[in-house]
Amino acid sequence: MNAQKYIESDPVIKRIADKQETAWINPWLQPFAVTDAVCQLVVSDADIQDAEDRLARFASFIRKCFPETEETAGLIESPLAEIPAMQRALEEKGARIPGKLLLKMDSHLAIAGSVKARGGIYEVLKHAEDLALASGKFTVEDDYARLADGDMKEFFGQYTVQVGSTGNLGLSIGITSAALGFKVKVHMSADAKQWKKDLLRSKGVEVIEYADDYSKAVAEGRKLSDLDPMSYFVDDEKSVNLFLGYAVAAKRLKKQLDEKGIAVDEKHPLIVYIPAGVGGAPGGVAYGLKRIFKDNVHCFFTEPVLCPSVLLGVATQEFENANVHDFGISGITEADGLACASPSGFVTRIMTNLLSGEFTIEDGKLYDHLRLLYQSENIQIEPSSCASFAGPCGLLQYEDSREYCRTHGLTEEVLANAAQIAWATGGRLVPEENRKAYLETYL
Ligand SMILES: Cc1ncc(COP(=O)(O)O)c(C=O)c1O
Repeated sequence: MNAQKYIESDPVIKRIADKQETAWINPWLQPFAVTDAVCQLVVSDADIQDAEDRLARFASFIRKCFPETEETAGLIESPLAEIPAMQRALEEKGARIPGKLLLKMDSHLAIAGSVKARGGIYEVLKHAEDLALASGKFTVEDDYARLADGDMKEFFGQYTVQVGSTGNLGLSIGITSAALGFKVKVHMSADAKQWKKDLLRSKGVEVIEYADDYSKAVAEGRKLSDLDPMSYFVDDEKSVNLFLGYAVAAKRLKKQLDEKGIAVDEKHPLIVYIPAGVGGAPGGVAYGLKRIFKDNVHCFFTEPVLCPSVLLGVATQEFENANVHDFGISGITEADGLACASPSGFVTRIMTNLLSGEFTIEDGKLYDHLRLLYQSENIQIEPSSCASFAGPCGLLQYEDSREYCRTHGLTEEVLANAAQIAWATGGRLVPEENRKAYLETYL
């Protein structure tokens, strides 16, 4: 692609190529009603409901295999926490954050400790259900806990699940597939953290390491899996099933907001900031939120200045052909989960008219936010997750995002009633020594 053309014609893309922190407002955003019908042709409300129902069917299996979900009866869901001390701490450092700041703690999701648990676990369970039903050994009327029985484990053991990952998707696929009895191969990019590889290997997962970046790990994994008729590839760059697993988050979030008495309407907007790697997790979550809250939710993604691939894919409308390297950006970042040089073609297309924009963040600030959250709220998340705070800090900082607020009815008065959610996407499984090291990292 001709990156130079975009750099020369768009001052925001020029700033992105210069690796400056930036607000990018999506010029392709449309009112929800304009996009609704076409979007439903691709992913409908019924599809999302079907995914939710499937997860409900699997609750007894999940409960049996993962006792940590006992308390929630096999439902894998994360808390929504108000974080007033973090809000104050950020404001003391100069940010202006109106309304109520909340943290959606997918960092603490059961089983895989990251947002990737939503899509990853869902897709593996769906694959297992498809195989079990086709085998005639199992029906949808059966208790799904039966899928953990020895004969079913033996049955699944004939099959392999493969995935390319920067780490967290591999963890969610690896842990779930291993519990079902599948053989698992995770193809990991050079950016993947050692502790994630070690943890996977400890679960009996075969980890294949690449000296190259994430796109290469996915391409190789896909190729190898395609050669094996007994193998299934979870395709982070293309999968609609992963997307559906993420989208289920939205209705559950609505319930949590209701429980807290937080209304979402024109006078009480919801503004959500989600870190993006290839785009699947933030895309699915944001898509689900748009289906429920329509124009009253404003979804922003956040990416490191060193790897803003989803931003470039949507901004240029080159989708999966956009690559940060073409813009002179390394793609190498401390936010290992976000180190995807090219975005998902599926997500960049389906989010084109739904995404409000993006905020980018320097690597050093990931650690500053990590420390601040720990000191103010005693919550620790991983560096990739901390990109989410670029959103609430940036909304009123940049002229372009202030202009967005003006044109979308987000006046001072309305913003004072807003709920702003930083989506914490990972962290619970970080080993103690890495936690300490993160707290002591200054760039
Ligand atoms: C902690 C964390 N946050 C965010 C993401 C982004 O998800 P996606 O790559 O689907 O955009 C990832 C992906 O692995 C992640 O590990």
